[in-house]
Amino acid sequence: MARVVRLHRFGGPEVLVEEVVPDAPPGPGEIRIRQTAIGVNFTDVHGRRGDYANLRALPLPIAIGMEAAGIVEAVGPDVARLRAGDRVAYASAPLGSYASHRNMPATRCVRVPEGVDDRTVAASLLKGMTLEYLLRRVHRVQKGEWIVFHAAAGGVGTLAGQWLRALGAHAIGIVGSAAKEATARAAGYAHVFVHGRDDWPNAARRLSDGAGVAAVYDSVGQATWEGSIACLAPRGYMVCFGNSSGLVPPISVNSLRDRGSLRLTWTRLSEYTATVEELDACAAEVFEALQRGILRPRIHAAFPLARAADAHAALESRATDGSLVLLP
Ligand SMILES: NC(=O)c1ccc[n+]([C@@H]2O[C@H](COP(=O)([O-])OP(=O)(O)OC[C@H]3O[C@@H](n4cnc5c(N)ncnc54)[C@H](OP(=O)(O)O)[C@@H]3O)[C@@H](O)[C@H]2O)c1
Repeated sequence: MARVVRLHRFGGPEVLVEEVVPDAPPGPGEIRIRQTAIGVNFTDVHGRRGDYANLRALPLPIAIGMEAAGIVEAVGPDVARLRAGDRVAYASAPLGSYASHRNMPATRCVRVPEGVDDRTVAASLLKGMTLEYLLRRVHRVQKGEWIVFHAAAGGVGTLAGQWLRALGAHAIGIVGSAAKEATARAAGYAHVFVHGRDDWPNAARRLSDGAGVAAVYDSVGQATWEGSIACLAPRGYMVCFGNSSGLVPPISVNSLRDRGSLRLTWTRLSEYTATVEELDACAAEVFEALQRGILRPRIHAAFPLARAADAHAALESRATDGSLVLLP
């Protein structure tokens, strides 16, 4: 039997309930994982609320969660990539990582190297892989470039500060409250501003000698869109990768011309790790960054699996800095 956190209706954190379900042997191409640490991500909150049309179309109950680390207990037919006893992790659909045990396609899982513990992996694989594609592939951040990163004290945001510092960028972090300033600074942001208190778009422009910044990484969405666009340099890159505050209202493509030949994208990890080769290369960059101490995930709290609802309540009330993990 496996313990699985599922929801029978979309809604607030209270809809997450731990249930016991029968084990199923791994099918062709699948491995069975005994999970040891589970990553909590803001996308899980969107899923639980019913923000995604593809999830709303599924029959209930559904399991959520996209990230965990553990041990391979069994392999199904046609699996060459992994063996029973391997330490593995994943940051990918199919959903259902909030569980003590589960089956996963072997091609969506990666081997965890020695010297990186499971909680660290659960706190950083999805977030770190997101940063690998954002900072190294969507826009390849250069030494000395001015960069704005939103939710700088969050799970992705703290790791971004560490990675941006290692890349030699001038990183400007934006946080939602004064209480998070110190966390963002400790993560590596040379300059930190509080949304709602500071005029951060003008401050970013002043800091970059009036030029504006090369790229803005914005996962907050509705609340920050206007300011983000306003602080970009001509030909700057507006990288949307989340909407924690709500969706950005429709915009005119002409505004990109009027604001100075801006570039705009809305990116998802799934499209940047679509092939096994991309997945392996992306995860390898994150493991190397962890082993070299470039990434040092901060675990705000670890909750027992049965308290997934408390983890969600903390995350969406903006009370957390760093990452949250669940322990099965
Ligand atoms: N597209 C992708 O590939 C991808 C992959 C991973 C994550 N993401 C996105 O990246 C973002 C960060 O993910 P995370 O898991 O590390 O979460 P997180 O940053 O730890 O938490 C979300 C943060 O968003 C900020 N926020 C602003 N307005 C908010 C609101 N109305 N309600 C709740 N939070 C609000 C809060 O920080 P402040 O209080 O400092 O404002 C909050 O701490 C999320 O938007 C997530 O969906 C996207």
